[in-house]
Amino acid sequence: MKKILILNGAGKKNGNTAALVKAFAEGAVSVGNKVTEFYLQTMTIHGCLDCQGCGRKPKGYPHPCVQKDDMNEIYEAFADCDVLVFASPVYWFTITGTLKTAVDRLYAVQRNLGLEACKKETVLLLTSGAPAELNPQPIEWYNLFAQIGWKSLGTVLGTGKTDEARKLGESIK
Ligand SMILES: Cc1cc2nc3c(=O)[nH]c(=O)nc-3n(C[C@H](O)[C@H](O)[C@H](O)COP(=O)(O)O)c2cc1C
Repeated sequence: MKKILILNGAGKKNGNTAALVKAFAEGAVSVGNKVTEFYLQTMTIHGCLDCQGCGRKPKGYPHPCVQKDDMNEIYEAFADCDVLVFASPVYWFTITGTLKTAVDRLYAVQRNLGLEACKKETVLLLTSGAPAELNPQPIEWYNLFAQIGWKSLGTVLGTGKTDEARKLGESIK
């Protein structure tokens, strides 16, 4: 059993990305995993200030950022998760600003605890209007997390691929 945290950066609550998220989550839960999803669009999450206040907090601080907003809920879920799922439509050739803003704020965790302590397994659920091969940038962005030791468990690239998303969810054990 794994604890899976989904960060959904879509603009639409019930759109193409939500369909992938739903299928993935159903698959994951069906084999005994625990899934927590945050729909970021309705949360108040400010951009990282690069103030480095996270480095000055005591190590292991549960809310490592100096900013007090809804990111605190995500920090708690992130501390407890095994798998981090990035879910996003492609907006102008990359992930949405909504998702990027939340991921930027995870900087505070690694600054507070060190990179090794916040290693995760990852999944990318990406939807787009054009075929995935015309949108390489978000996939390259995702793959770069391997540089800090985060291991990809798989990707679903493309609108409507709910069967693939469900199977990926079922494969997580
Ligand atoms: C602001 C905006 C920018 C977009 N840019 C792209 C793009 O660069 N490439 C692409 O293939 N699709 C692009 N799309 C289409 C969306 O990625 C696609 O419709 C996606 O499935 C929407 O997901 P949703 O239904 O979860 O909101 C864009 C859509 C919007 C609203």
